[in-house]
Amino acid sequence: MPKPRSEVTTRRSRAAERAEAPIAVFDSGIGGLTVFKELARRLPREHLLYLGDTARLPYGTKSPENVRGCSIEIGDFFAERGVKLMVVACNTMSAIALDALRARYDVPVVGVITPGARAAVAATTRGRIGVIGTEATIASGAYEREIRALSPNAEIFARACPLFVPLAEEGWLDNDVARRAVGIYLGSLKKSGIDALILGCTHYPLLRPTIGDFLGLGVRIVDSAEETAGEVRRLLHERGLLRTRGRGTASFFVTDGVQRFLQVGERFYGASVASAVRVVLRGERSPEGPRRLTRRA
Ligand code: DGL
Repeated sequence: MPKPRSEVTTRRSRAAERAEAPIAVFDSGIGGLTVFKELARRLPREHLLYLGDTARLPYGTKSPENVRGCSIEIGDFFAERGVKLMVVACNTMSAIALDALRARYDVPVVGVITPGARAAVAATTRGRIGVIGTEATIASGAYEREIRALSPNAEIFARACPLFVPLAEEGWLDNDVARRAVGIYLGSLKKSGIDALILGCTHYPLLRPTIGDFLGLGVRIVDSAEETAGEVRRLLHERGLLRTRGRGTASFFVTDGVQRFLQVGERFYGASVASAVRVVLRGERSPEGPRRLTRRA
């Protein structure tokens, strides 16, 4: 039986109202701005909120319990602001805390691992895929699981490259030190004959030219940030949640001093970050959840 007109209209106007809500972007600090930048580029009408947990950066060397607890504190912060979708820009959080976040909130939660894995599987011709990320991301095996689910015969070569994070923040992207670090970390991946490499960390896109020079043209480099922004756009479109009018806005929150975020952030964002607000997270840690804090989209 067709639905009564009033019911259809109400559902449509509820979706339109929901489309006005902001999108949350999670990160451990500054690096998630590489994902934020792509989101702002592809979704210029959306209101974007970014939280960088600069007081507790880096997450990449922390235990899974700690990463999960911190991620939930950030999620609760955003849930209280009525966001329509959450993007976990940080690879470490995506690798470790995505399931806990999805169980806790009833808005879509998008991570960077699946889009990155999907793009790498599409990019490889020989089925030999390299993955680089923080120690915690590589130890979690999250990229391997996603790649194998899509392509069971793929050969995967994973390597943690922890020094790339401070190099990117320092702006040492193509000097001797950066080239040496790239050579040491990626030497074995190059020898293993990979033809696709996933940059599985928010900071690594800044080193892309140096990594590309070292690996040569035969290796396709996959940036999870670009892939994730595409995925978010698709999802919003499918659910009728795209904001179709007006200009979007960008708001930034940090848990430590604002000054460093503004200075270093520009390098990751590609434009100046005009202002940021320092916030204190509530410190609630109850990963057992689920606690519904937002309305279903
Ligand atoms: N954002 C982290 C990631 O993408 C890198 C920085 C950190 O270790 O917190 O894994």
